[in-house]
Amino acid sequence: MPLPATYGYSPHPVPLPATPLVYSRPAPIIARYVMSVLVIVGALWGDEAKGKLVDVLAGDADLNVRYCGGHNAGHTVAADGKTFKFHLIPSGILHENCTAVISGGMVVCPKTLLDELDNLHANAKTTGRLRISKSAHVLFPYHRLLDRLEEEYRGARRVGTTSRGVGPAYQDKVARFGIRMAEFVDPERFPERLRIALAMKNRTIQLYGEEPLEYEPLLDEYQEYAERVRPFVGEVEREVNEAVRAGKRILFEGAQGTMLDLDHGTYPFVTSTYPTAGGACLGTGLAPGQIDNVLGVCGAYATRVGSGPFPSELCGSLADRIREEGREFGTTTGRPRRCGWLDLVAVRHASRISGFTSLAVTRLDVLSGFDQVGLCAAYDIEGTRVDWVPTDMAELEKAEPLWETMPGWSGDLSLCRKEDELPAQATEFLRRIEAFTETPISIVSVGARREETIILRPDLLW
Ligand code: IMP
Repeated sequence: MPLPATYGYSPHPVPLPATPLVYSRPAPIIARYVMSVLVIVGALWGDEAKGKLVDVLAGDADLNVRYCGGHNAGHTVAADGKTFKFHLIPSGILHENCTAVISGGMVVCPKTLLDELDNLHANAKTTGRLRISKSAHVLFPYHRLLDRLEEEYRGARRVGTTSRGVGPAYQDKVARFGIRMAEFVDPERFPERLRIALAMKNRTIQLYGEEPLEYEPLLDEYQEYAERVRPFVGEVEREVNEAVRAGKRILFEGAQGTMLDLDHGTYPFVTSTYPTAGGACLGTGLAPGQIDNVLGVCGAYATRVGSGPFPSELCGSLADRIREEGREFGTTTGRPRRCGWLDLVAVRHASRISGFTSLAVTRLDVLSGFDQVGLCAAYDIEGTRVDWVPTDMAELEKAEPLWETMPGWSGDLSLCRKEDELPAQATEFLRRIEAFTETPISIVSVGARREETIILRPDLLW
């Protein structure tokens, strides 16, 4: 489905050149001529409204592939007058002709998955286009229990996880105790795999002084889930690879954001996987050279849920005002989000790590009505001006923001459909973000609805 005409462009299909491209170095084995692989990455701590952009862009996509995380993520999509909440299934499933893919980089809670499928069925949506990788890991109740026990053990240094068990499920994956989808849906193998995994996990649970979980009821419950999940499970990596080679349009969607990346985020206050663009390759078998464009997504201001350093955080009435106007409460946990001005240093860090070819700036409308708006342009760390993100969290915890302020704007931005309809101050604000982060802005979001979107540079997307 093409984007509405209000976006002012018709991106699909991209014509093939008449003659093959001439390469100055040996031609790659896979020669493709269309820009068809777009990766969407959160620039900061998640909740940048990636879900809305995925919903807007998935209308043009053949495949919508989620490459990391589990049901710690969440977004709400309004479609056909109904509201859908997604934690696992890529929202591209709502678009006809778009196949939704849960990749091997994800951990899947079967109960949440089935709830989402039931909700889609209840709203007369077809789910036949859902595919789940055989190598995705399955999340069990013992993961959720261990998430809570580990957080309690950390005490003051708790991560502030979503308590969904996602971290412990990835721990099992790395420790090679995890149960993959292929084993989960195999009635022969699953009982034994669960027996061994549970016995091992129960030892840890008892070390924390808790009662062990019982095997039989768990097996019965999860065997029922497996029956329902089985039809969706397949050789997804091969299918994605073939789709890329066939020049299909593929939207890869990360969960969370760069500053929650296990290696490049604010460790240990991070999630347990790789939300950066490289995660798309790790999670799906996509080769790095097959990525055409990377769209980084940041809000016009910054938010964070959970613990950990957040140098541009605001407190008091300013933070409360942003939280209220932006309705900044977690989709998954309902927790109030910490709010601050946009951290340009962190967005540039994210852009460099993931190679953003462009940025989407969301929630510009929320900042309407402020006399002045702020941007964090450097950190003061014990008297030294630092304009990069330090790797050592002890340093980042000491960082004080060095602000740039810009004149604010007013008016209802959600009515704007073209850049020249935005107030001049808002445009100046966008230009400053581009200049600092060295990344052009391709999309500006001015409201929650699909049509409240301004596409500035369609050429930087597909
Ligand atoms: P976990 O992913 O549940 O282990 O939580 C680890 C950290 O990531 C915590 O600070 C969470 O608040 C944060 N987190 C996980 N998922 C999301 C998300 O979808 N949006 C924002 N923060 C998230």
